[in-house]
Amino acid sequence: MSQDVVKIITPEGQTAELPVIRSEMGPPTFDIKTLNKQTGYFTYDSGFAATGSCTSDITFIDGGKGVLLYRGYPIEQLAEQSNFMEVTYLLMNGELPNQSQSNAFNDEITRHTMVHEKIHAFMKGFQYDAHPMAMMMSAIGSLAAFYHNHMDMNNPEDRRLAAIRLIAKMPTVAATVYKNYIGQPFMYPKNSLNFTERLLHMMYGVPAEPYEINPVAAKALDLLFILHADHEQNASTSTVRLVGSTGANPFACISAGIASLWGPAHGGANEAVLNMLDEIGDVSQIDKYIAKAKDKNDPFRLMGFGHRVYKNFDPRATIIRKACHDVLGELGVQDPQLELAMRLEEIALKDEYFVARNLYPNVDFYSGIIYKALGIPVQMFTVMFAIARTVGWTSQWLEQYETPDTRIGRPRQVYRGAKTRDFVPLNKR
Ligand code: CMC
Repeated sequence: MSQDVVKIITPEGQTAELPVIRSEMGPPTFDIKTLNKQTGYFTYDSGFAATGSCTSDITFIDGGKGVLLYRGYPIEQLAEQSNFMEVTYLLMNGELPNQSQSNAFNDEITRHTMVHEKIHAFMKGFQYDAHPMAMMMSAIGSLAAFYHNHMDMNNPEDRRLAAIRLIAKMPTVAATVYKNYIGQPFMYPKNSLNFTERLLHMMYGVPAEPYEINPVAAKALDLLFILHADHEQNASTSTVRLVGSTGANPFACISAGIASLWGPAHGGANEAVLNMLDEIGDVSQIDKYIAKAKDKNDPFRLMGFGHRVYKNFDPRATIIRKACHDVLGELGVQDPQLELAMRLEEIALKDEYFVARNLYPNVDFYSGIIYKALGIPVQMFTVMFAIARTVGWTSQWLEQYETPDTRIGRPRQVYRGAKTRDFVPLNKR
């Protein structure tokens, strides 16, 4: 990074000199930290369209070129040649593990997969039809109650252990949520299995008989988890960092991240895509729904389309689109919704409205079709996303603690409410 300055002149003629941060990758950035001190001015940027909130060494995106790198490695290479546990190690530690580091890491994750028995009792308190994301958010938040008193947030080893616990326990909690949702007995983690196999076993196994893992399903999940593992400062990661900046318990931070991910504009889009395809129903209805998506008076949006950062294509969508065909082929699943999604994509990509606004399918457009082919109910889709993104959330949370200029996140506002006025007693209003 090299530094020069930009000069700002306010309408009143005051000047400020702001450092320009130039990084070897990514656009130049004005460091506006001292702007208010120098001029009395703040900046306004609703939705953080042009504002960076932190420095990070973890993930790089070039939205114009459709590039996504984890610690410098292209997502295409990781998807093709790596696996989710290795990617987890990479995101957390900055480097790919060698064989013995990989073994030790897998072993450590495996040792933390169980959750306190009281989580089962907690889960049973939910109504049978509670949304899995609601249960997930609460259950992960409730883990703060088990891991708080003895945790020293200033101790890097305690922080690392919290991250390991979160990554290891997410699948167990997710499977518990699923079992509660369908009314089956909870299954304990089987540590002879790998990460995704263990999840499948906990979700689909029953105590009454042995469960045989389908390797196609385990591999498909592993790929989806790699693609979902991190995505720099998206809404949920920024939420985790904002909560984390107050020094809050890490389980509480991740619970907040899950809440943020749930929204249909973010991770909830994978569930929304399948609901949308259900609603469209048939290829003959596509034109009608494209027209609705373009109509500014209609709240309908084409779910799984568009992205704040990618303005060319989402590289994850390209990988998932291909995987979708491969996985459905290998599982022998014929899904008319895949045909419908492909036709919808084809029509939208030729439509002037979508072309002019650079709206392309994003990661969530096809991921739900794979989850569905694996037998995962629609309402669990975002839970699956959350399992993977926990790796990104915890890596970013760890990094935040190690970054010297981290301060409490405290945005400002442009106040537009009532001017100062005197209180009027009730009998005079
Ligand atoms: N369907 C129809 N119009 C759209 C869509 C869409 N999916 N997305 C954006 N637009 C239009 C929008 O109306 C606006 O038009 P105009 O310039 O005429 O006002 C223009 O495109 C720019 O959109 P924006 O809302 O300003 O863009 P944003 O960066 O604030 O929002 C987004 C990005 C992802 C929230 C949005 O594209 C969207 O709502 N997409 C559908 C939901 C979705 O698929 N979300 C998953 C995102 S990727 C995975 C993840 O984050 O978890």
